[in-house]
Amino acid sequence: MNKKIAVIGAGNVGATCAMYLAEANFADVVMVDIIQGVPQGKGLDLTQAGPVRGYNAMVKGTNKFSDLKGADIIIMTAGLPRKPGMSREDLLNMNADIVKAVGKNIKKYAPKSFIVMVSNPLDLMTFHMQRVTGFPKNRVFGQAGVLDSIRFRAFISMELGVAMTDTQAMVLGGHGDTMVPLPRYTTVAGIPIGELISKDRLKAIADRTRAGGGEIVKLLKTGSAYYAPAAASVDMCRSVFNDEKKVLAASAYLTGQYGIKDIYIGVPVVLGAKGVEKILELKLNKSELSALQGSAKTYKSHLKGLGYK
Ligand code: NAI
Ligand code: 2OP
Repeated sequence: MNKKIAVIGAGNVGATCAMYLAEANFADVVMVDIIQGVPQGKGLDLTQAGPVRGYNAMVKGTNKFSDLKGADIIIMTAGLPRKPGMSREDLLNMNADIVKAVGKNIKKYAPKSFIVMVSNPLDLMTFHMQRVTGFPKNRVFGQAGVLDSIRFRAFISMELGVAMTDTQAMVLGGHGDTMVPLPRYTTVAGIPIGELISKDRLKAIADRTRAGGGEIVKLLKTGSAYYAPAAASVDMCRSVFNDEKKVLAASAYLTGQYGIKDIYIGVPVVLGAKGVEKILELKLNKSELSALQGSAKTYKSHLKGLGYK
């Protein structure tokens, strides 16, 4: 294969992204981590699964950022995950340093790439990565809304006993306690969710979605979720790689849409070969809009902590 996708970080999310990418079989994968041996070992292991899993993609693990050369898309997962009792924002300063170091290498070795950000706190790290690289804003975007939306969809499917694939949902806002699940834009095979689930149950499901990452941190005790996060990240990567133009919730740079500007936050976008090709403006009602604007306000104040105005 002559196309290459890079994953930075060979930890839980990164290695799972590499596995899903290899299984999708559309490009070779290079996985970069600072720990000696681990990316190389995981890469070799994943490559050796190819003959029975039915893929030809090679997965190369490395400690050299120069191996980013030629990568079309980069999934950035390097960074510390949460432990029980921590919020995503508690990771701010530690992960900001990692994003800075990695961003400089991306700029040097893969200056034309697209970056799918995953490291937390997601919306802030996406902003930071764009500033560090100076890449056009359509080429740097964050994965969170896809994960939050598939969590919402899975809970709805579990509640109703219907196919996961028949559910559709949209979760906007920042990837944290202020995220905004939108029941009005949630359906099962086109049927508005309000016709199938009571208001009380729907509220409970939206609340569980909002706390979905924390629920898994509490269970795992040593880290955070990775299967669904990696699946969501690869879905975004695929939409760009194959120019699928999927409509997905992504952390995108706003320039006045929804009355919000100069910040990355989760909104519906069209994701294709040019990255974020369009930001869709939904006709939100008053309370939905004020929840989205409130979420953006919270993140704006955190940006000051990173030294941005
Ligand atoms: P992990 O600890 O399993 O893996 C992180 C990896 O990053 C480690 O292997 C570490 O050696 C590597 N790393 C650290 N500094 C590096 C550098 N400068 N260059 C290259 N590699 C470096 O953590 P996990 O579970 O994979 O999570 C990674 C990040 O993704 C965390 O910040 C976590 O909070 C975030 N996350 C975000 C989600 C989202 O939806 N946006 C969902 C799940 C996790
Ligand atoms: C999650 O939502 C930790 O952000 C990660 O699972």
